[in-house]
Parts: sequence; structure tokens; C-alpha cells
Amino acid sequence: MSAQPLILGIESTCDETGVALVRGKTLLSNVVATSMDEHARYGGIIPEIASRAHLESFLPVLTQAVEQAGVALDEIDAIACAAGPGLVGSLTVGISAAKALAVAFDKPLYGVNHVIGHLAVDALVDGDFPEEFIGLIVSGGHSNLLHIGNIATDVKELGATLDDAAGEAFDKVGRLIGTPYPGGPHVDRLAAQGDRRAIRFPRGLGAGKDKERYKYDFSFSGLKTAVSRYVKAMEKTGHDINTKDLCAGFSEAVNDSLTAKTVRAAKDYGCSTIVVGGGFSANSRLRELLTERAHAQGVEVRMPPLKFCTDNGAQIAALGSFVVQAGIAPSPRDFGPDSQMSLTKTCM
Ligand code: KG4
Ligand code: ZN
Repeated sequence: MSAQPLILGIESTCDETGVALVRGKTLLSNVVATSMDEHARYGGIIPEIASRAHLESFLPVLTQAVEQAGVALDEIDAIACAAGPGLVGSLTVGISAAKALAVAFDKPLYGVNHVIGHLAVDALVDGDFPEEFIGLIVSGGHSNLLHIGNIATDVKELGATLDDAAGEAFDKVGRLIGTPYPGGPHVDRLAAQGDRRAIRFPRGLGAGKDKERYKYDFSFSGLKTAVSRYVKAMEKTGHDINTKDLCAGFSEAVNDSLTAKTVRAAKDYGCSTIVVGGGFSANSRLRELLTERAHAQGVEVRMPPLKFCTDNGAQIAALGSFVVQAGIAPSPRDFGPDSQMSLTKTCM
């Protein structure tokens, strides 16, 4: 296979159908359709609606991605599709489509880890990765700290959330104060207008014995409960709630934990680069605080632009490109979706 393999990437882990083409580390096209509007009125993702939407969107998205890249499907060197973690029904649609293409065009197929893809995509934007770095993945379903040597072959999980993911916690607070779903961006916008010192909420695993025992782990469910208790207490006593200050105090607690632990991991492991991925990396306070704290320690922060932070095909194609270039064997033809795919497993 060429040193600059042409990879077709297919993403279908949740509510986005994404197809992208990458040659080596150069992005040729990246097309995404989302079914979020269909879920919003239910206040959460409805798996069956998501699966059906993938089925309906796949061919139009594929056609557009191939046209924009200006390549023919039989020219591609390999196909990469998201094998997990994610919703089984959604993954099944993308994997089935990928298998059909692999058989029809006689191409090798790689079922890759969607979450690791959230970091891999950064190489398309910011160039080659350093020899080792710390990865922070923050999304609606994941909050993880990773140490990465080679992104295709050497990924170690340092820590994870013990309960809610950062985006999930924001969505739950959004629900509590009545924002549309998903609440994350709304809570972020309100927080930016509030006083982050007005209400101090607890930092999960940030004190006492837990601070050492869970030094790279996160916990946001106690914080969410504290916010809910605060709202109830204010309502009971007839006080108006300043939602901007509430969101600012809550956002500060989440981002204080995320950034302190990420920068600590970089220092502990002697890494001078942090790469951030996942939809929550759109959070304005995360971007600001992480940059500030990392720079104070001489650590560089790489964050891809927002369109590459939410789920997309480029992240799958990018990781596929790393996997192919590392000489990893294609996935067995009978592989299926792995909804809980381990973060140390890059490829099926
Ligand atoms: O990675 P992603 O697109 O989907 C997966 O979970 O895989 O992340 C979506 C999550 C949602 O929870 C959403 O509310 C949150 O990221 N999010 C934000 C912001 N933008 C998206 N949370 C806080 N602040 C934001 N600006
Ligand atoms: Zn994702």
C-alpha cells in the first residue's frame, strides 16, 4: 500500500452520519448529516430513530463525500469504520455499509475506535503528533485522560469519569434549568455571562484521599446533585435563581477538575503536548482555562476546530490512516459493533 494511503472513513456511533476521505494526513472531504433535530423533542437520543436516520443518510452522505474528494471508490486503499464505542443499532448500520463496500470493491476493512478518532483527527489540522502526548477526550458520553505514544499501537488509559461525562452533566443541568436539548451549549453561553465566583460547587474527587487515589479520574454526578439541591432550596425559600451565576459556578467546577487533572497528567508523564477531542471541547471555559493552565507549565494545547470536535467521518478516516500506516492487519470479516470498546483497543 502507498505511503499516503487513500482512506474512506465512516462514522455512525450516535446521531451523526459521517463520511470522509483522507489521503495520508490530508483531508479531501468530510460530509456529516445529523438526526439531532429528530431527538431534541424527546430530550435525549432515541436509538431507533438514530439507526433509521443513518440508513437514510448513508448513501447521500457517501455520494457527496466521494464527489467532493474527486476520487472514484475503486481508487481507495482501505475503508475504516467506527466499530465502537457507541449505540449498537447506529454502529450496525455504518459497519454493514462498510462491509458491503469492502466486499464490492475488494478493499481491506478496519473497524476502529471512535473515541481515539476524536484525537487522531487533530493530526489532519495541526500536523504530526509528537512522540508522546496526553489526550483529553470530552464528549456527551466520555471524559477520559489518555497517554499516547503511537496513536495506532500505544494508547494507555490514565483515567475516566466514574459516573457522568462532562457533556452529559452539562445536558442534565440544562434540563434542570429548562434549556432545549442538548443543554451543553446553552449552559456554556449562560455561564459566560455569569459570575463564576458567586456560587461555589464541589469539585468531585478533588480533595482528601480521593485526590490521590483517583488522581486522573473525574466525577460529576455529586456536582449535578449539588446544583439540583441548590435549585430546590432556592425555590423552597422563594428566592429567584440567577441562572447565569448558577451555570458559571457549575461550569467552573467541571472545568477546574478537567483542566487541573489534564495538566497534572502532562507534568507527571513529562509530556509537553495535550490534545483535546470530543464535542465538549467546544466549551468556552474549557478552552480558556486549559490553555491558561497548560501554558503556565510550558505545555502546548492542540484543539481541532469545532467542526472536527463533534462526531465526523474525518476522525475515523484519520485513525484508519494511522492504523494502515502502522501495518496493522485488517479487522476479521465477522467483526461486529462493540458498544463498550476499550480505549486501549484502537482497531478490531
Ligand atoms: O462528542 P459529541 O458531539 O457527541 C458524543 O457524545 O459522542 O459531544 C456532544 C456533547 C453534548 O453533551 C453537548 O451538550 C456537549 O457535547 N457540548 C457542550 C458544548 N458544545 C457541545 N457542552 C458544553 N459546552 C459547549 N459549548
Ligand atoms: Zn464522539
